[in-house]
Amino acid sequence: MTGTATGPAASRGGTVWLTGLPSAGKTTIALALAARLRAEGRRVQVLDGDEIRASLSPELGFSAADRDTSVRRVGFLARLLAGHGVTVLAPVIAPYAASRAAVREEHRAHGVDYVEVHVATPATTCAARDVKGLWARRAAGTITGLTGADDPYEEPVRPELRLDTRDDPIDESVRRVRALLTARGL
Ligand SMILES: Nc1ncnc2c1ncn2[C@@H]1O[C@H](COP(=O)(O)OP(=O)(O)O)[C@@H](O)[C@H]1O
Ligand SMILES: [Mg+2]
Repeated sequence: MTGTATGPAASRGGTVWLTGLPSAGKTTIALALAARLRAEGRRVQVLDGDEIRASLSPELGFSAADRDTSVRRVGFLARLLAGHGVTVLAPVIAPYAASRAAVREEHRAHGVDYVEVHVATPATTCAARDVKGLWARRAAGTITGLTGADDPYEEPVRPELRLDTRDDPIDESVRRVRALLTARGL
């Protein structure tokens, strides 16, 4: 559906949060999905964890409290945008269940659609992909506090969708998230 300025496809926003370990595939899936949704005529905003952190939360580090604050800020921004008809894709680790629950509640309280997608790539696969070299640096002991290595990642218990990127190619993951949006009327 192409949607017009007044049609439902153009006006109904929502947030898709992609949570998972570093190098799980969150950004890759979000960017591919964003391209597909834009081609359908939607307004899409990707709020990528690393990029948005630098501009929205430059004073925050990686303590538990700071990680929580960072996730809540992204959640607030996502809710604002989604409430104005934007499809927001948030590939953000969001390691703690309480932070993710707060973001979900922020959306619910304002009547804005929200779905959580767990990019459930296991740590061993993430360490092998190691897009930014973080897993190698953690293994070498030059950094500490890597989520999934020596910092906690609380697995989502009931995400709307769980993706296994070991078996599925990128296109299949994108197709499955797109199907979730359709099933949700988004
Ligand atoms: N099915 C898949 N889904 C997503 N990424 C995949 C998949 N298979 C291989 N990859 C690769 O895994 C890496 C994931 O990196 P990235 O998306 O930056 O992770 P994250 O944003 O979760 O840290 C990319 O190099 C991507 O090409
Ligand atoms: Mg990423």
